[in-house]
Amino acid sequence: MANENVVIMLGSPRKKGNSAILAQKTADGIKSSGAESESFFIHDMNIKPCRACDKCQEAIDKYCVINDDMQILYPKLVQAHALVIAGPVYWFTVSAQTKLFIDRCYALGTPKEHNLKGKRIGIIMTYGDPDPFSSGAVNALRTFQDAFNYIGAHIVDMVYGSAMDAGEISANKEVMEKAFDLGKKLVKASHF
Ligand SMILES: Cc1cc2nc3c(=O)[nH]c(=O)nc-3n(C[C@H](O)[C@H](O)[C@H](O)COP(=O)(O)O)c2cc1C
Repeated sequence: MANENVVIMLGSPRKKGNSAILAQKTADGIKSSGAESESFFIHDMNIKPCRACDKCQEAIDKYCVINDDMQILYPKLVQAHALVIAGPVYWFTVSAQTKLFIDRCYALGTPKEHNLKGKRIGIIMTYGDPDPFSSGAVNALRTFQDAFNYIGAHIVDMVYGSAMDAGEISANKEVMEKAFDLGKKLVKASHF
């Protein structure tokens, strides 16, 4: 059990924002199942946009050639049992921070030797508009479905809820519980 671990990517610029609060609940769920998690706040990391040089596609044993903080993340992502991406809806889709990270996962697709194939994925999204359609949350969730389907990873669950001001999501007991359960599911799912 000690080796079970989950990487949590935080895609909001707000360290104490709604998506980060839900991600903490998920981390609690992971811990309650005897596993560990490590969280990364993308906004504070040096992660550059994909250059489309395709160097990562030329050699199956190489990550991206850009020498930035993705080099810290690549081995951790490959070794992790599961990955959580938590973030806000910005302009009807994922935040720029989240998208930077997703684009750089191009270097972890198949047939790469180090890839995310079969990885258990948890998605956490928060948004201001109460309606998941008009908020753009559905666009963001669809992005994750398509991206992880493309690389052969499996989305275990998606936890999402409406909240505008930082911290407001804490009042939504149902979604807070779902976030905790997501952590438990991610660990269980990695056992078969
Ligand atoms: C630049 C910006 C764009 C936003 N765009 C949307 C949007 O398109 N749809 C929506 O429902 N909420 C939008 N919001 C509200 C956030 O999604 C909402 O406050 C969310 O809970 C923030 O999560 P966080 O606290 O984890 O940052 C936007 C907020 C900002 C700052």
